[in-house]
Amino acid sequence: MKPPAARAHRDMILEVANLTMRFGGLTAVDRVSFTALRGEITALIGPNGAGKTTLFNCITGFYRPSEGAIRLHRPGALPVDLHRLAGYRIARSGVARTFQNIRLFPGMTALENLLVAQHNTLMAASGWAVGAVLGLSRYPAAERAAIEVARRWLLATHLLDRADDPAGALPYGAQRRLEIARAMCSSPGGPALLCLDEPAAGLNPRESEELARLLLEIRADGTSILLIEHDMGVVMKISDRVVVLDHGRRIADAAPAAVRSDPKVIAAYLGEEGEEE
Ligand SMILES: Nc1ncnc2c1ncn2[C@@H]1O[C@H](COP(=O)(O)OP(=O)(O)OP(=O)(O)O)[C@@H](O)[C@H]1O
Ligand SMILES: [Mg+2]
Repeated sequence: MKPPAARAHRDMILEVANLTMRFGGLTAVDRVSFTALRGEITALIGPNGAGKTTLFNCITGFYRPSEGAIRLHRPGALPVDLHRLAGYRIARSGVARTFQNIRLFPGMTALENLLVAQHNTLMAASGWAVGAVLGLSRYPAAERAAIEVARRWLLATHLLDRADDPAGALPYGAQRRLEIARAMCSSPGGPALLCLDEPAAGLNPRESEELARLLLEIRADGTSILLIEHDMGVVMKISDRVVVLDHGRRIADAAPAAVRSDPKVIAAYLGEEGEEE
């Protein structure tokens, strides 16, 4: 039998090592290290301003970290240094994300939002337009396939009956689900790693319950998830591991039950309430 460390390394999908992000004099992420395992839901929690979104922005290439490394591990391939790549190349290597504030195209229909997300796949099939101009294109087949992928995710997110509605006209909870559908459509065969920034924010209890079920389905289909979330009901129910940040530092990294009873974590959240008074 292999020692646990070797097993963990083999199963790793994301490795964050000594990551630091400074904005002028403010250190938003301070020497944070953790790993996320393949096929798991890893939650990233912590009080407001802890550095969670900043960490996501480093992983997905919105920010270039001040120090440290972020590596994506894929079976049978060399690790990818995400901290050196531009955002579009990070997306192409199989990392998808949603945003804390919804960023859909509100005037486009739900279906169109999911087709736009597949732009790269469609353009590649058109030979980056040259093939299409010459009439040699595989484009119609690729377009049909793209519509099929979009329909699959509209179905999974209970939005099939809203396919032709403008995204901006959908209720808030439906827009949140559409964002997840869009992220799932963004790479062929689905992303290797899905990064969700507070997907349950603003949802009612029934919608949160549905969201939890959707994330478990996505995990079962083989996409690993990194989940920023304040809704502890959702986090404790579906996460395999929980990493806790406070003031930019990692203060805990353990199974959900252990994190819930960790005095350092409880103190960090109580401190937040104290600061609000
Ligand atoms: N672009 C930026 N420029 C300057 N400071 C920033 C920037 N982005 C974030 N910060 C600061 O970095 C710290 C961490 O912010 P971040 O948004 O990562 O926290 P968070 O954990 O996502 O919080 P929340 O739970 O409220 O979303 C905060 O003090 C924030 O003001
Ligand atoms: Mg945030």
